[in-house]
Amino acid sequence: MKRNLLIYATKADITTLPVDVIVNAANTSLLGGVGVDGAIHRAAGLELLYACRGLGGCHTGEAKITNGYKLPAKYVIHAVGPVWSGGSHGEAELLASCYRNSLKLAAEHHCRSIAFPCISTGVYGYPVEPAAVIATATVKAELEHESSIDEVIFCCYTDDDLEVYRKALKDG
Ligand code: APR
Repeated sequence: MKRNLLIYATKADITTLPVDVIVNAANTSLLGGVGVDGAIHRAAGLELLYACRGLGGCHTGEAKITNGYKLPAKYVIHAVGPVWSGGSHGEAELLASCYRNSLKLAAEHHCRSIAFPCISTGVYGYPVEPAAVIATATVKAELEHESSIDEVIFCCYTDDDLEVYRKALKDG
């Protein structure tokens, strides 16, 4: 692990974070939605939707990048998490690849700081505890290798989620 790597959880509205890139919990159309997807599109403005229209969608587990437009963040990485369907349909691996692919894209764009929402734990119904373990373990493993990234924020929206992600970071 790099010496100066900072990984932590905080409670905030991700659209307010002045980081290089924020990750959106998107759907395969990339044309917006409710939850954090809705918040990011509202804050970024219509140019984000126009940019997303040109991306041709995104498969579950994968991620695509756009500018941040009106957001304080320079970029938005749109990652499509799995819908929870009981845990035996590859959900864990698909969730891990959201984090892995987001980090790869962020590093390719020379980002130093990245903020993740709790992907798939809202509308998509992924239980928060296992999602937090997958998220934190994947990020730690991925950042063992050299990367431009030296700050990762798990941006929780509720106190309960913050407690879960902080515990996963501590126990991991
Ligand atoms: N900042 C940070 N986190 C937020 C914000 C916000 N402004 N708004 C919501 N969240 C949190 C939710 O509380 C949840 O913990 O984001 C997490 C992910 O929940 P969802 O946004 O519902 O995302 P997900 O479960 O991945 O479902 C994705 O929902 O909005 C649609 O288009 C999206 O179809 C896709 C689906």
